[in-house]
Amino acid sequence: TSLYTGLVDRYRARLPLAPGAEAISLGEGATPLIKLRNIPGDVGFSGEIYVKYEGLNPTGSFKDRGMTVAVTQAHAEGSKAIICASTGNTSAAAAAYAARAGMTAFVLIPEGKIAMGKFSQTAIHGCSVIQIRGNFDDGMQLVKDVAETLPVTVVNSVNPYRLQGQKTASFEIVEALGDAPDYHCLPVGNAGNISAYWMGYREMATPRAGETPIAPDSFSYLREAVTDKLPVMCGFQAAGAAPFLAGAPVKNPETVATAIRIGNPQSWAHAETAVRESNGHFDAIEDDEILAAQKLLAEREGVFCEPASASSLAGALRDIASGKIKPGSRVVCTLTGHGLKDPDIAIKQATAEPVTVDATRQAVEDALVKGL
Ligand code: F0G
Repeated sequence: TSLYTGLVDRYRARLPLAPGAEAISLGEGATPLIKLRNIPGDVGFSGEIYVKYEGLNPTGSFKDRGMTVAVTQAHAEGSKAIICASTGNTSAAAAAYAARAGMTAFVLIPEGKIAMGKFSQTAIHGCSVIQIRGNFDDGMQLVKDVAETLPVTVVNSVNPYRLQGQKTASFEIVEALGDAPDYHCLPVGNAGNISAYWMGYREMATPRAGETPIAPDSFSYLREAVTDKLPVMCGFQAAGAAPFLAGAPVKNPETVATAIRIGNPQSWAHAETAVRESNGHFDAIEDDEILAAQKLLAEREGVFCEPASASSLAGALRDIASGKIKPGSRVVCTLTGHGLKDPDIAIKQATAEPVTVDATRQAVEDALVKGL
């Protein structure tokens, strides 16, 4: 059969799961890699820009890749409950995969700072939502504290199975392009995803002389070279939540891109390794630049991502303009979450207000003529 049944089945040989573990899957992965058609010409770029549209995962973000593996393993180990802190996407994925597995999910979210679509997902899947009077970083610490004494499995990206699942996006990109891209641009919040992508690219590449297999965690894995190329990793933070630029945790992170409103990234060392080993860089993007990139993608390419996701393209365009990204090169930007996650922001971004007219042919024709 050719039925696609998700990334645990697709990549099980490359995942350190308990033998025989039943896959807890919603058919995640296999997301489109879309070649931008208009924006490269608009900005005078001679190379290619692709977007990995992770918003098309079952719960609308890349978190599903990590969650299917983390929940598959937790379920196989007999865990009854999972817990996470979240800015909204991890909690949505945790809620859905826990429902699927027949497990309990607890999610800690910063009160009032979750986009509406994400909040609706936790509501419908019936998980326990604990809103805290604090931010993501406070929630993350609390999750680690309570998991010391209570029987709950933490499914934030401090759980190594999360990064193992998320690395599969790199596999798909190499498979689609036949090789790694020259540059890979990502939004960075808690810094798990950039770490996972780098792990994935390294696993696809020929080991360097004298090198032991890389491991942002303690797992061993199958290594089967598909490419000898590695991309330059470019990580983009929101300017008001940019600990990698500050060189230290940020106490009160603030950004319109609530998904990456994080000041104390848990995968700090892994992300720094990814950037250092790939000769890449971190940069910080202002909120208005993030929103401009979200709108540009929607209006010029028909691709709708949430604000945090657009920081990858905003960063790529900045690096193209500055020459950090070389002319003629091949760039992949990860669009981490779907635009429908945050409908309030999308509506605020609209160029034209809806017009209201009488239900007559004349009135509709008059409205059309103005726009033609
Ligand atoms: N983009 C989106 C849409 C996200 O939801 C996140 C993280 C990131 C980018 C950053 O990825 O943390 O691996 O560097 N969201 C987490 C959450 C924190 O709780 O949903 P990262």
